[in-house]
Amino acid sequence: MTNAVKKTILVTGGAGYIGSHAVYALQQASFPVVILDDLVYGHRDLVDQVLQVPLIEGSTLDQRLLRDIFARYDIGAVMHFAAYTYVGESVTDPGKYYESNVVGTLTLLEAMVEVGVKSLVFSSTCATYGMPETLPITEDHPQQPISPYGQTKRMVEQILTDYDKAHNLRSVRFRYFNAAGAHPSGLLGEDHTPESHLIPLVLQTALGLREKIALYGTDYPTPDGTCIRDYIHVCDLADAHVLGLEYLLKGGSSAAFNLGNGQGFSVREVIDAAQRVTGRQIPVIETERRPGDASILVGSSQKAREILGWNPKYGDIDTILAHAWQWHQQRHGAAVSTL
Ligand SMILES: NC(=O)c1ccc[n+]([C@@H]2O[C@H](COP(=O)([O-])OP(=O)(O)OC[C@H]3O[C@@H](n4cnc5c(N)ncnc54)[C@H](O)[C@@H]3O)[C@@H](O)[C@H]2O)c1
Repeated sequence: MTNAVKKTILVTGGAGYIGSHAVYALQQASFPVVILDDLVYGHRDLVDQVLQVPLIEGSTLDQRLLRDIFARYDIGAVMHFAAYTYVGESVTDPGKYYESNVVGTLTLLEAMVEVGVKSLVFSSTCATYGMPETLPITEDHPQQPISPYGQTKRMVEQILTDYDKAHNLRSVRFRYFNAAGAHPSGLLGEDHTPESHLIPLVLQTALGLREKIALYGTDYPTPDGTCIRDYIHVCDLADAHVLGLEYLLKGGSSAAFNLGNGQGFSVREVIDAAQRVTGRQIPVIETERRPGDASILVGSSQKAREILGWNPKYGDIDTILAHAWQWHQQRHGAAVSTL
């Protein structure tokens, strides 16, 4: 496919962490891009200064705006990252999550059906599986989410199955494990406020922006007693999105794919690796387990490798941390210089 014949890809949530890396990967693959993001959690500066693609500030809940975007741009497919993502908040404020993540997606799908856009790449999550019954988790593992956040993603997966049957709208649903790392250029990375992910929290502690990193539970049935998670480099996720898009554009049928590293790292192993990479001591405080945390969550991504030809490049935890460290030092430069 040449640049001239490629249609524009609408990327919802493209000003956020994973979406911005996917936009970069789409640009590398010569796809024109337009971003729709409400900027509640996204970053205009990264879009304007690094990605330099059109950014439409607004919500997937805005039907008129969606119609306007589909009328203005020749959209060939949609990558749908836009969602609220805080598991804890979804328990205390489920309405916010069902509205943005489910109703927002329905509004988007209806707009796509109206104009005949038939391909969607969707950000689902390993949180749709709930507590693992078998490891590594494969795509046929039962989906029994334990949080409203996980429910919203499972519901959208069901809606996508029904839209395929009714409207021939085909989708790739990527169930990510823990997205981590940053672009090797140092220009893009993770900047969530509030931050809830382990690696940025550990690196903010290394930077002196936090006093200590909390270890929630040290008595899990794992070799060092801390939880084990599957960290997948954000650029490997972004590459998978381009492959998933190309698969759909070539007529591939709807499918769900895990995207993970295939190997787990414990919380202590991540902290040890962060100390190695940063050369700094990272103070730790041991606290109680958090309710709902599985001891081990590790996925098999064999299906994505076989069907999409996905070949993740950055499985090594030290590389993931080194890229994230470079980004955090740049993003929090003022704090670094005062250390
Ligand atoms: N970060 C992870 O480890 C992880 C794991 C599994 C799944 N996911 C999913 O991947 C996607 C991206 O996650 P992220 O970590 O980049 O989050 P993020 O918060 O950095 O990005 C999401 C973006 O979507 C925007 N947004 C939210 N609701 C919107 C709406 N209704 N309309 C328009 N814009 C809206 C936000 O402002 C933000 O810029 C999400 O769907 C999330 O559920 C993330």
